[in-house]
Amino acid sequence: MNQYIINGQHPLHGEITISGAKNAAVAIIPAALLVDGVCRIENVPQISDVTLLFSILEELGAKVTHLSEHSVEIDARTVHSTQPSFDLVRKIRASYYLIGALLGRFGEATVAMPGGCNFGVRPIDQHVKGFKAMGAEVTEGNFVHAVAKDGRLKGATVYMDVVSVGATMNVMTAAALAEGTTIIENAAKEPHIVDLANFLNSMGADIKGAGTDTIKINGVDQLTGGTYGIIPDQIEAGTYMTAVAAAGGELLIKNIIPKHMDCITAKLVEMGVHVEEHEDTLLVRRDQPLQRAKVKTQPYPGFPTDMQPQIAAVMTLAQGTSIVTEAVWSNRFRYVDELKRLGAEIQVDGRVAVIEGVEKLVGAPIQACDLRAGAALVVAALAAEGTTEISQIQFIERGYENLVGKLRSVGADIRIVDLPEGSYCSDPGACC
Ligand code: EPU
Repeated sequence: MNQYIINGQHPLHGEITISGAKNAAVAIIPAALLVDGVCRIENVPQISDVTLLFSILEELGAKVTHLSEHSVEIDARTVHSTQPSFDLVRKIRASYYLIGALLGRFGEATVAMPGGCNFGVRPIDQHVKGFKAMGAEVTEGNFVHAVAKDGRLKGATVYMDVVSVGATMNVMTAAALAEGTTIIENAAKEPHIVDLANFLNSMGADIKGAGTDTIKINGVDQLTGGTYGIIPDQIEAGTYMTAVAAAGGELLIKNIIPKHMDCITAKLVEMGVHVEEHEDTLLVRRDQPLQRAKVKTQPYPGFPTDMQPQIAAVMTLAQGTSIVTEAVWSNRFRYVDELKRLGAEIQVDGRVAVIEGVEKLVGAPIQACDLRAGAALVVAALAAEGTTEISQIQFIERGYENLVGKLRSVGADIRIVDLPEGSYCSDPGACC
């Protein structure tokens, strides 16, 4: 069990290169199961969720060959099972993408109900609705068991009752090899949805409209392989933007798609942060006091829920009263108690957090309770006076490649230490 030790108040200076997008990678890697050939994926982030997915694919019989640090070849021609093991699947929320991929390719899937970060009810009814519309019989319990009648899904029109990233990607994946045309209405529009569609198209699929609210998938008989590079991670980039907003200094954030950052950039500029946009970089500088702001999370192109904890951490140091409304998840403020331990003044009422800016935060022992909550604690700790110890960092490592190395390279005083056994909470769910 490791923890981060952060000595705060060191302004950040230098360059950080953004890795491949986690939420694209965790959909694209399972979607490689659809491919009847070798598919090469580049710009793969080195994070624990991705490592876990590779283990699941290997267990199903796929050959996974690591070509370099961020480049991998997946050959799914040798897959012999449609039932990944319970223990692996339960560790990661994105394992629900295995249902769409296995069902699409083999007409059958048996996958444990997914695990992952817990910040509210996480139903998969819209995924199931899509599979059923395409002719699958689906039973749910501890496992989701889905079988396509006659062995192959049939194209259908699916109207999503809620805008869901996961359901859009899962139904799109399953439909790529279905017989006939599938139309997804009220689809989510996140950059990773476009990325998954581009990946599938590069392997031979016929998908149009990804990035709009209507996606049309003309099913093909086979996907044959190819090479694809994952887009940069919008949320990782946004997290480093908030890090420099909180700690001060100037960072050049490299390997990004500026358009994807607009919703985050606009909010930070409103708060007094200087952001200069270039072709595939952003220069972010904070050299004046932060101003209060209001933010409400929304599906893309709105402000992302996955940046909500990090922007809230910045708001703890802004002049005046800031307001955060979480409109996507029902319980995504569990990190607030940890920020309060650093001296933040925050009141939560349901889905709204009211933040009174304070002059300074002061380091203390705190715990991450999910991935983005953990990132927010790092952002706050970088700005806090004195030493902050952050435990339960395995949550953070699910989604940030080399967070410590990247931050150290720009002047942050952060290191990982081993926590002696018995000195940490054995029940992370109960901790925060
Ligand atoms: N929802 C339903 N029914 C469904 C699916 C979703 O009611 O069948 C509801 C959810 O309860 C939620 C809303 O729809 O209130 C949006 O959920 P969505 O399906 O979009 O979320 P997700 O696909 O499970 C992905 C990301 C999350 C991110 C959300 C929203 C992955 C693996 N996860 O989750 O990322 O918060 O989209 O953008 O892509 C993270 O990276 O830290 C993270 C949690």
